[in-house]
Amino acid sequence: MNIKSETILKVNKLSKSVTLDDKQLTILHPLDLEVNSAETLAIVGSSGSGKTTLLSLLAGLDLPSSGEVYLKEQPLHQFNEEQRSQIRAKHVGFIFQQFLLINSLTALENVMLPAELANQKNAKTLALQLLSDVGLSERSDHFPNQLSGGEQQRVAIARAFITQPDVLFADEPTGNLDSQTGEHIADLLFNLNQQFGTTLVLVTHDHKLAHRCQRQIELAAGRLVTATVVEPQTNVVML
Ligand SMILES: Nc1ncnc2c1ncn2[C@@H]1O[C@H](COP(=O)(O)OP(=O)(O)O)[C@@H](O)[C@H]1O
Ligand SMILES: [Mg+2]
Repeated sequence: MNIKSETILKVNKLSKSVTLDDKQLTILHPLDLEVNSAETLAIVGSSGSGKTTLLSLLAGLDLPSSGEVYLKEQPLHQFNEEQRSQIRAKHVGFIFQQFLLINSLTALENVMLPAELANQKNAKTLALQLLSDVGLSERSDHFPNQLSGGEQQRVAIARAFITQPDVLFADEPTGNLDSQTGEHIADLLFNLNQQFGTTLVLVTHDHKLAHRCQRQIELAAGRLVTATVVEPQTNVVML
């Protein structure tokens, strides 16, 4: 693995407010954060504490009300949707709690899609390799509704890694899965993090999952309350 320790994500006084019934509601109070390349970071906190909002700002899916967010030194807060979309396609992968696969496409086609959109030439070879890495070689021609929740999430992981993103954002990636399946999904994420040196930023309710990350930050009512460094456990498993 290529060990790099440069800052990949940097946030200065980032905040998010919305207007509801003529009242200003602060969802995220100004916070600072730095994430190193290849680091694994968990964002924890109770429901409604602002985790998804923070993740969306870090990934350039949403714009802050104030403050700055740099991804690979690119000022996302100054970019329009099209510019942010280009940065995302090049540098960012996502995994969501609801998997969000395209139902009319097979597992293989779902995985190939981001690579095809990026005009990657070897999309099919890469997709087949990733499906094999996540243990789904036999299911590549199956549609999402023919797959279990855990299998669908494995397809979503393969899809997220196909463009070899610098940062993978995962929002409650195990939230819809039973604990054993969730653990297997987490194994895959950490394994791919090690294999590709991908920075992993994951939102989770699951303390066991959070503890597998090198660092945890906790949000409460839109504020950063604690930052904990956790000794990494042995995260590498054989695929
Ligand atoms: N676009 C929005 N308009 C109004 N309120 C919002 C919006 N987005 C999020 N919120 C509110 O902000 C708070 C934080 O939401 P969220 O980031 O989804 O929390 P979490 O992911 O930690 O459960 C919640 O109270 C939520 O209802
Ligand atoms: Mg959320």
